[in-house]
Amino acid sequence: MVILITGGAGFIGSNLIHYWLEKHPDDTLVNFDALTYAGNPANLAGVESNSNYHFFHGDLRKKEQLDEVFERYSIDAVIHLAAESHVDRSINDPSPFIETNINGTFHLLEVARKHWQDDLKSHRFVHVSTDEVYGSLGKDGIFTEETPFAPNSPYSSSKASSDHLVRAWHHTFGMDILVTHCSNNYGPFQFPEKLIPLMIRNCIHQDPLPVYGDGLQIRDWLYVEDHCEALDFVFHKGESGETYNIGGLNEWENLSMVRHLCEVMDSELGNSPEKSCLNLIRHIRDRPGHDRRYAIDASKICKQLGWKPRHQIREGLEKTLRWYLDHQDWVEQVTSGAYRDYYRKHYGTD
Ligand code: NAD
Ligand code: DAU
Repeated sequence: MVILITGGAGFIGSNLIHYWLEKHPDDTLVNFDALTYAGNPANLAGVESNSNYHFFHGDLRKKEQLDEVFERYSIDAVIHLAAESHVDRSINDPSPFIETNINGTFHLLEVARKHWQDDLKSHRFVHVSTDEVYGSLGKDGIFTEETPFAPNSPYSSSKASSDHLVRAWHHTFGMDILVTHCSNNYGPFQFPEKLIPLMIRNCIHQDPLPVYGDGLQIRDWLYVEDHCEALDFVFHKGESGETYNIGGLNEWENLSMVRHLCEVMDSELGNSPEKSCLNLIRHIRDRPGHDRRYAIDASKICKQLGWKPRHQIREGLEKTLRWYLDHQDWVEQVTSGAYRDYYRKHYGTD
């Protein structure tokens, strides 16, 4: 089986490639990635010599490059992760989100449909989406697969648009498509613009820890390897045309999460109370349109496909902290240059 993984140089994509080559050594993986600021070949350093792994430097916005990769590798199936993924960037400039997440997905669907037209039903296409398409919850409630879409940010609305496209390509053209909606991931190789790696990096550097608004927004955290396993289950056991929610039942207020990270970092770094990372917490201007709470009901994938998350949050966070502490060269590499401009512009400080 030759599987095209789009966005395989990003956070979840690179974790998925490591996971898959180990779990399914007979499959061949082709990683199609534009290497934007979020894509990093160093995430795949360990697999580059594997003869079942190929990298194709391509952009979803360029349909002819997708055509070329399907032609060159006789792609059997797709797991589509490539996207612009950061909400704050989508507020700053929505255009790349429209171009990659919507137009790029449209190109991918059309190229796959063309190459698989003789036998559309025997080629699987897994579209990796997000819980953010469901909008924001109040104190109560939980997102199920039946929750109506109500995306609030340019990012989530672009993902919701792409979900509608893949749904239509299944219903109208009969493509074998499945959609997943996952909650917030954390783990190795996550770009330090996202909450957890950003806080870890700033703790190490003793830089301010920027908490948006009151910090009482809630996210539902899942260790990235558990997401990869869920995608494996959906790919191999999921029913065509179905959508599956993926989440860890791990709801945390942002401020509690940041405080917890500070405490673990203090003990890892041997900080005295005066040097505690807790002293670095700063409440800053809230994110415009900030979703208050996400929570995923993952009972469908658990009951129907037999998946369950393996990592407890504290264990997953410890593995993650350890990884960042052991890979400070990786952090330095990805946060040089353009990152500093982004940081200065977004947070108003170095
Ligand atoms: P990421 O930003 O870390 O990685 C995205 C990857 O896509 C990068 O390697 C980038 O180079 C590539 N890419 C971007 N634009 C491209 C284009 N035009 N053509 C080809 N490649 C392009 O993202 P992530 O956090 O790994 O998320 C992966 C997918 O999972 C996304 O679709 C996202 O919406 C979804 N998701 C993420 C989370 C999360 O918590 N991170 C949760 C649920 C769903
Ligand atoms: O829910 C799944 C989604 O999770 C994915 O689809 C997105 O790709 C991914 O980026 C993530 O979106 P969030 O906006 O929830 O993640 P982020 O890490 O940006 O922020 C998590 C929470 O922390 C959110 O409430 C905003 C807050 N935050 C974030 C940053 C970067 C802060 O308070 N300060 C910060 O500096």
